[in-house]
Amino acid sequence: MQIIETPQQMQALSAEWRCSGQTVGFVPTMGALHEGHLSLVRAARSQCQKVVASVFVNPTQFGPQEDLDQYPRPFEHDCELLREEGCDAIFAPSVAAMYGAAALKHEPHAYESHTFVEVSKLGDVWEGVIRPGHLRGVATVVTKLFNIVRPQRAYFGEKDYQQLKVIECLVRDLNFDIEIVPLPTVREADGLALSSRNAYLAPAERAAATALYQALSQAAAMVQQGERDIAVLGAAMEKICDAQPLVKVQYITIVDAETLAPLDRLEDSPARVLIAAKVGETRLIDNIALSF
Ligand code: PAF
Repeated sequence: MQIIETPQQMQALSAEWRCSGQTVGFVPTMGALHEGHLSLVRAARSQCQKVVASVFVNPTQFGPQEDLDQYPRPFEHDCELLREEGCDAIFAPSVAAMYGAAALKHEPHAYESHTFVEVSKLGDVWEGVIRPGHLRGVATVVTKLFNIVRPQRAYFGEKDYQQLKVIECLVRDLNFDIEIVPLPTVREADGLALSSRNAYLAPAERAAATALYQALSQAAAMVQQGERDIAVLGAAMEKICDAQPLVKVQYITIVDAETLAPLDRLEDSPARVLIAAKVGETRLIDNIALSF
């Protein structure tokens, strides 16, 4: 397994693979890998001849008050996990390699790069409101990573559902010749969605955090039993979360699964429930499909 630190070396390696007719699968990550990431790597491994994972904590997707500095960076362990999964290369650039030598601190104005990718509408709602600039940072770094790794397929978890929709949209709009492969959220036995940020939770918070999945599952079960009233579903979910004093809901919403526009009624088009909450100081998001 190769560890590559510069965009130029990564581009050269990918070009060599593609020229010899090999398919490149790509799993972008910020490291602190868990089973959710590894499920993406396994899917890539089974569908592509070469697999690249990136490990890059992208500063431009963190707000000034967010956890950029605390974000876990267990790089050696991540490398071990990726090696065990049969990954061919890790792309692990420095911030300077991605954004220019001036980008050593979290000072976006100091970055040498001046080009950003912004997906309007899909990127303006939900996470876009609570974390201004976050989805622009994600769309920009993913665009850069696509141009550096040049994969034919890229793998994303459904756990960050809005991120997935934003990336699908930018791939369509910017004509990237890349297939986006979404994979289901991987959960703990009690339903908590795996996230690198779960490591921040104190034991009582970890216990309370199960309310998010309980609320989502409750909505899905009620819909299965015939409930179609969005307000009734919303109230049932709020009640479950409100029963946990450590959980402070930021939004619970039932949206069109493609446009992410809030729905007034559940009809035929696929719907998704999105939830974001703070559990203590830790912000968690999750979502579930509604089938009816
Ligand atoms: O989902 C993540 O880990 C990040 O947002 C991504 C896609 C690797 C971009 O930094």
